[in-house]
Amino acid sequence: MELAADPRLSVTTHPVVGGPSVGPSLNARLGGLSDYPFTRLAALLADVTPRSNTTPLMLSIGEPQHEPPALLAQALAAAPLADWGKYPPTIGTAPFRAAVHGWLCRRYGLPASFVDVDKGILPATGTREALFQVALLATPQRKDGRQPAVLIPNPFYAVYEGAAALAGAEPVFMPATRETGFLPDLDALAPDLLARTALMYLCTPSNPQGAVADLAYLKKAITLARAYGFVLALDECYAEIWDKAPPPGGFEAALSLENDGAGQGQAGQGTANLLVFNSLSKRSSAAGLRSGFIAGDPALIQAFTRLRSYALAGNALPALAAAAALWGDDAHVEENRRLYRQKIDAAEAALKGRYGFYRPAGGFFLWLEVGDGEAATRRLWGEAGLRVLPGAYFTRSEPDGGNAGHPYIRVALVHDTETVARACETIARVLG
Ligand SMILES: Cc1ncc(COP(=O)(O)O)c(C=O)c1O
Repeated sequence: MELAADPRLSVTTHPVVGGPSVGPSLNARLGGLSDYPFTRLAALLADVTPRSNTTPLMLSIGEPQHEPPALLAQALAAAPLADWGKYPPTIGTAPFRAAVHGWLCRRYGLPASFVDVDKGILPATGTREALFQVALLATPQRKDGRQPAVLIPNPFYAVYEGAAALAGAEPVFMPATRETGFLPDLDALAPDLLARTALMYLCTPSNPQGAVADLAYLKKAITLARAYGFVLALDECYAEIWDKAPPPGGFEAALSLENDGAGQGQAGQGTANLLVFNSLSKRSSAAGLRSGFIAGDPALIQAFTRLRSYALAGNALPALAAAAALWGDDAHVEENRRLYRQKIDAAEAALKGRYGFYRPAGGFFLWLEVGDGEAATRRLWGEAGLRVLPGAYFTRSEPDGGNAGHPYIRVALVHDTETVARACETIARVLG
């Protein structure tokens, strides 16, 4: 068939060049999102100039500043040049999956068969994109005959909200305040809400508060996901940065449910309804490698593979090889933890007894109660060149206008110990 014979391809119905133009109509859900926290921070500080005798220091972004392990550069250098010329497969490579699987089994004491090495693991270009895409995977048109809900801790990592809203779900926030141990109170969730829940995000250790969910908590979350037929997305990207004890993980909880036996109705369920997200950004101080993984329920992984075969750009093969080397090594992570503990010690020495200071059980953020987080942020920037983030920018306001994050600032302890010590002393001096 000749092209011109098909009326659908006729050019004569289009506006002539130079004629009136119509702007593209964009996804209206975008307009409903809050500005991203760093955009809001830039606006808040736009008219504040740090004093001339200060050196600006970024305590606002959770970007580890430790040097990435030499293993990373070695693995990249060892990769054949030709591998840079190849499109990476959506499911990654067998050595990558084997390295992630090996780490999961070591870290959480799992039997080898619990997470399927070929059908239960996918590479991610960092957890961020994967946590975004999981909402597209999990959100049906309707759930229980209504608009689906996506449950999100409050405060929260901003990506969860954007993902939920853009997937067409209603983001529903679960308060995670000092009163609830900085984790959502799962017992407070109404059955009516759970019935229309398509996806629940949980983060442990949590950002920004550094709270760790215990095994019983994780078991409850998995049990709810199975009882109400939703996906549980566990963001465990801070799982390797801990203070006193390694945080339990979702797979440990699923295994424990399995071991609890048939009496509880959970035997044989394995990793059902569960997806775990993790990355090398914090564990290996390699945020720029953009390498993480998604693991869990093989049925979900299969559907996710289908979605990601459309949506994923993927990690280059040399990056997957480097990632495999890093997941295979624990020594550099032990050293990372030692350095983070030093920083928390320094913060404790400067801030103990003020601003509700506590040692975060996991992660590397301080969540300090300073009265008015935005005002404190402006003062710290203006008077000392310290850039922190107001807690309100992680926290959705209540319908009555109250915002549980308003009194807080988040401080990222990512610089060397001496710098962290000086910064914390300065915070105490400036905020009084
Ligand atoms: C809670 C949380 N989840 C996910 C991410 C994304 O990290 P990445 O994409 O580097 O794995 C971050 C990054 O700071 C985070 O704080």
